[in-house]
This record gives sequence, C-alpha cells and structure tokens, in this order.
Amino acid sequence: MKEPLMRIENLKKYYPAKGAGFIGHKNMIQSVDGVDLTIYEGETLGIVGESGCGKSTMGRQMIALERPTSGRVLYKDQDISNMSVRQLQGIRTEFQMIFQDSTSSLNPRKQIYDILAAPMLYHGIVKKENISHEVNRLLNLVGLPSSVRHRYPHEFSGGQRQRIGIAKALSINPKLIVCDEPVSALDVSVQAQVLNLLRQLQEELGLTYVFIGHGLGAVHYISNRIAVMYLGKVVELADTEELFNNPVHPYSKALFDASPLPDPKHRDRNRIVLSGEIPSAAAPPGGCRFHPRCPYAKESCREMEPGLEPVSPGSSHLSACPVMSDNILRKDFPNGTEENQNV
Ligand SMILES: Nc1ncnc2c1ncn2[C@@H]1O[C@H](COP(=O)(O)OP(=O)(O)O)[C@@H](O)[C@H]1O
Ligand SMILES: [Mg+2]
Repeated sequence: MKEPLMRIENLKKYYPAKGAGFIGHKNMIQSVDGVDLTIYEGETLGIVGESGCGKSTMGRQMIALERPTSGRVLYKDQDISNMSVRQLQGIRTEFQMIFQDSTSSLNPRKQIYDILAAPMLYHGIVKKENISHEVNRLLNLVGLPSSVRHRYPHEFSGGQRQRIGIAKALSINPKLIVCDEPVSALDVSVQAQVLNLLRQLQEELGLTYVFIGHGLGAVHYISNRIAVMYLGKVVELADTEELFNNPVHPYSKALFDASPLPDPKHRDRNRIVLSGEIPSAAAPPGGCRFHPRCPYAKESCREMEPGLEPVSPGSSHLSACPVMSDNILRKDFPNGTEENQNV
C-alpha cells in the first residue's frame, strides 16, 4: 500500500476579478473551489480539464507558490499552505514545478552551467568544489552532453530546453514534481521523448508527479490515476484505465469524446459533444456547475451541488454525478445520445 505524500483538503483559491472596483464586495474568480485530493508516494496523478478550470492554480498551491484562500495542503502531514517563509525554506526543496514554457523559467542571459548551479548553491545542496561535477551529472541525467553547459537557453531546441527545465527542477533533489503541461508546446515526436524521460527519471529517482495536461494522450500515457477538473472542482477521479474505459461523469465522457485516442476500444458510439463555452469562474452556475452544458441534467442538478462519491460502494472510482452513478452511463445512454441533447 502506497503512503500518501500530499493531502489536499477543501482547497479554495479565489482571485479578485479584473475591473471589480476599489470599494465594496469584489467579484471573485473561484479558480479552485473546494478540492480534496490525496497524492501517493511514487505515483503520477494526472489532472485534466479545459483551459481555465483551475489546473495551474491548483499546481501553484501544491508547491506553496501561493497561499490558498482557504483549505489545507499537507505535505508529509505538514501544512505547507500556512507556513511562514522561514518555515517553508526548510521544506521547499522537496517540491518543484516544471512549466509548459521552459523559456520563461530559464534566464536568457545565463549559461546553462549557471542556471543549474544557482539553485544548488542557494540551497546549500552541493559543495562549491563539486558543482561542476554535479552540473555534468544533471545534464547527462536528462540526456544532454556535458559539453552544452556553456551555451545559452536560446541555443537549444524546444525539447532540449524542456530537458534543461527538468534538470533545473531535479537540481535540488525534489520528491514531488508538478509538471504543468510540460509537453504541450512541443512537436509530437519530441513529446514522446520528454514523456519517456520523465517516466525513466521517476523510476530512477523515486519521484512523485502531478501531471497537468489538456491533451489527453500525454496524461493517459504517464498517469496512474487521473482527476478531471471542471470550473474549479474535481468532478471525477479514478485509475487511468478505469477512467478511460468507464467514464461516469458526463463531463469526463465529453472530454474524452472530444479528443481522439489511438485505441479504438476507448471510443463509444454514444458520444457527448460539448457545446457552449465554459462558464466564467467569477459566476459559476448554481447546483452542479456542469448542468447548463449537460445532456443528462435533471431539475435536481440545478439545485444541489453534488460531492465526489464512490460510483459503487467501496470503489476508488469517484464521481460527482449522482445521476450517472446509478450505472446508467455504463450500460447504455438511454437519454443522452447526440440526437437527444438538451444543452
Ligand atoms: N493570478 C491570477 N489572478 C486572477 N485570476 C487568475 C489568476 N490565475 C488564474 N486566474 C483565473 O483562474 C481561473 C483558472 O486559471 P488556471 O488555473 O490558469 O486554469 P488552467 O491552468 O486550468 O487553464 C481562470 O479563470 C483564470 O483566469
Ligand atoms: Mg494552466
């Protein structure tokens, strides 16, 4: 049984909406609005959902880049969401983030050697006399020759820059890495190489990953479990294969139907086609947030906000759709085929 490394409890992060004025009650963007999640040591937890649903915001709370509005982020039972800067100092090296755009995290005026050496020196992880050796080791770890260390970030291809981004994240020996769409900006052939590198490093170094993506292929390939987010909430959570074979929440189903996977067994003849824009996170719909776009919505879905519950007693497959959890979706789609949508 794997140990929990991080527990997220009722996490909320609201931002003031733009142009909301100086005085009075501002509109708040409910970027993350009540998320509970456990991340187990050594696993890859994928997070998927449309752009703007709060994935990156959640990632930033997981590595204590920002303070949540409320809720807790427990890393090895310590609440990192409320730590002082000083307390965080001691634990910060344990978690890192890899971004989609590695260019922004690599100083264009610095050589790769300095980019990789700086965090190790700052955190006192490596003695000065060993830095050179350590920089070479990191470069080799991510599949680059030591000879590139005196080059600048712009002299590399996108895939190579992402490798350097990974080396930089690894330089301080983290346990947990939040990968925020790390391959979304890369060519497909390069994506596979970077994903394989991430997998290989996970195995070698015993890393735990949170892998954020909106391309389902990459998330499916790398994740052990997947959380599907919609408008600041997790609407479904399950082991990867279980989720792809038996999505229960209509939103997950629609998301999977919208992105073709190479494996036809994941396809379904009763496709849900998502119509309409994702509503504003500043004014999410009442009840189930997905109800205005849901072909299965009932009156009760407008009124009651569903929680994440096991789809059958004792199941680790959780869904926030009580309407579908009575197995309707698994057997057939009596009311919700493409021809019969009320969106
Ligand atoms: N620093 C911020 N200030 C104000 N709004 C923000 C900020 N960061 C994110 N948001 C808003 O929060 C919502 C979720 O954003 P984000 O976490 O970036 O979503 P995702 O990564 O899933 O695309 C969006 O509506 C976005 O505009
Ligand atoms: Mg994002």
